[in-house]
Amino acid sequence: MKTVALIVAAGTGERMGGSLPKQYALLAGRPMLAWSHAALSADPAIDEVFVVIGEGHQALLDSALPGARFTIGGATRRQSVALGIRAIGAADRILIHDAARPFVSEQVVDHLLSALETADGAVPVLPVADTLVAADGTNVPRAGLSRVQTPQAFRDEILRRAHADWSGDEPTDDAQMVRALGGSVALVQGDPMLEKVTWAGDIAAAEARVGWETR
Ligand code: C5P
Repeated sequence: MKTVALIVAAGTGERMGGSLPKQYALLAGRPMLAWSHAALSADPAIDEVFVVIGEGHQALLDSALPGARFTIGGATRRQSVALGIRAIGAADRILIHDAARPFVSEQVVDHLLSALETADGAVPVLPVADTLVAADGTNVPRAGLSRVQTPQAFRDEILRRAHADWSGDEPTDDAQMVRALGGSVALVQGDPMLEKVTWAGDIAAAEARVGWETR
């Protein structure tokens, strides 16, 4: 059974500010992308790790991760995933991961892959702790709502079909595309270590999570 992990890292990271795209910014002494690449490469359940990078980012990748297997992404996350899954060869299971979530544990990957024994896809989720409100001021009950993280795991065939058939609005993850085809997506226990790094202050918060003394 072949399992491939695809890290999407072709975003501009413009919400972060700074001179480098955020996936190449130093986080606890190492480029952000290198953290999840190392963890997924070391995971015994994963056979290959591929990266999808932005146009013109090859020199950045070479210095962050010399020798990494990569392809060039597109203008949206969905396009980057589609180009990535086209570039990787045949697989049985594909994990899609955002470079913006540096700290991936073997435990989360195990839960995801176990869930694929009975489901078409699996995603890690955490409960919503805050009160939620819509733009018009209406309160949104948080009971039953979850925050969805990556990596997300899928059976190869349904993920490829979901990308080939997609015609909806721009999705923010792959699970919603698989569900749109009628595929089953299991929810597994997420991990606070997987919080996404989006805004400038998130780098320091991520460094604190691994006990790194912030500059
Ligand atoms: O922008 P956001 O943080 O939601 O992006 C999620 C992930 O998708 C990031 O790792 C980013 O690099 C990646 N992405 C991509 N191609 C794009 C846009 C985002 O690979 N065109």
